[in-house]
Amino acid sequence: MAVETPFVPLEAVPTDSTMIVTARDEDDTERDVLRHRTGDDVVGWLDACQHYRRVPIGKDDGETTRNGEFVCENHGAYFEADSGLCTFGPCEGARLEAVEVAVDDGIVYVSDDVYCYTGLGLIERESADRTSTSNVQFYEVGGKNRTSYGLL
Ligand code: FES
Repeated sequence: MAVETPFVPLEAVPTDSTMIVTARDEDDTERDVLRHRTGDDVVGWLDACQHYRRVPIGKDDGETTRNGEFVCENHGAYFEADSGLCTFGPCEGARLEAVEVAVDDGIVYVSDDVYCYTGLGLIERESADRTSTSNVQFYEVGGKNRTSYGLL
């Protein structure tokens, strides 16, 4: 089990929204990870819609959640918070990519074989389109260490 700092208490993970943490994969790429609590369990999902997979489901920390489903703020896809299954929208039937999370003695850990926790909150991105009001934004791919730009 990966040990993360700072420790995140179970009570800090919302049941009616999400907490965003940052995790790094084997290629040293940082990704935003959604955490959502259902009772004493916590699930983790990459914050990447299955319609356009480089697009986060929400724009900030705290995804819109209705009746146990996340709602993509871009084109309205619904994803079950506990299973990651898209139940409505352009990617219906697809599933969010899981990031394994464990809870031990009231503390939440990333327990994934691929991703390791790197911090709380969204990845720092430098916006390439500072004038857009669209939910689809341009950003620096892979976080602050890459130079190419792409559509989220
Ligand atoms: S990007 Fe999420 S529904 Fe289109």
